[in-house]
Amino acid sequence: MFRIAPSILSANFAKLGEEITNVLDSGADIIHFDVMDNHYVPNLTIGPLVCEAIRPLTKAMIDVHLMVEPVDRIVPDFAKAGANIISFHPEASNHIDRTIGLIKEQGCKAGLVFNPATPLSYLDHILDKLDLILIMSVNPGFGGQKFIPEALNKLQAVRKRIDTSGKKDILLEIDGGVKVDNIAEIARAGADTFVAGSAIYGAGKDSDPHRYDTVLAAMRSELAKVKA
Ligand code: DX5
Ligand code: ZN
Repeated sequence: MFRIAPSILSANFAKLGEEITNVLDSGADIIHFDVMDNHYVPNLTIGPLVCEAIRPLTKAMIDVHLMVEPVDRIVPDFAKAGANIISFHPEASNHIDRTIGLIKEQGCKAGLVFNPATPLSYLDHILDKLDLILIMSVNPGFGGQKFIPEALNKLQAVRKRIDTSGKKDILLEIDGGVKVDNIAEIARAGADTFVAGSAIYGAGKDSDPHRYDTVLAAMRSELAKVKA
């Protein structure tokens, strides 16, 4: 099963509630919530208060991508704010296994995120504790960057590791530069969950509440060409 996760980083923040409702009405599955701290990454975005404010709008999963350092301190706040999945970067945690345990203790699913130059060896010893693996196909910090093709090799390698592990239900997510014209190739490399910010929120005219229908339908029809 393929899931599309619009990143609200590229939404119009003056109308955030509407932007979320519209994208879900157009068939999005998950809300991707990018948290940046101007320390681990050179940008500053949104925190638990915003997550709490959008939680009542939908039953869809809120997928919190923490680009913050340190990680542990903020995990309980996001759990209380209604996050379903909390993912973090291994470089931002002193104790990866402990952080995964903390996320799960708080009742959330745990994800580990790999930057373009982060080795997959971080999966050793902990893969079966994860619910999601997120491969970054851009360097984290900004929306609207170009897809780094090496991410396809990484996806293939992680897909093999998931399939040969005892835990085949781990989600394999891709984040950065995902568009209608590359989503099928990314799915063929093994991703099942697709974050897209600028490709979705950049579509159509601001005044049209159905502006996301076309781009989401186009992504779905590309994905339909690929065997899930
Ligand atoms: C980058 C963020 C992404 C970003 C994706 O650090 O993690 O989620 O918003 O945006 P696009 O799809 O525009 O590359
Ligand atoms: Zn993200």
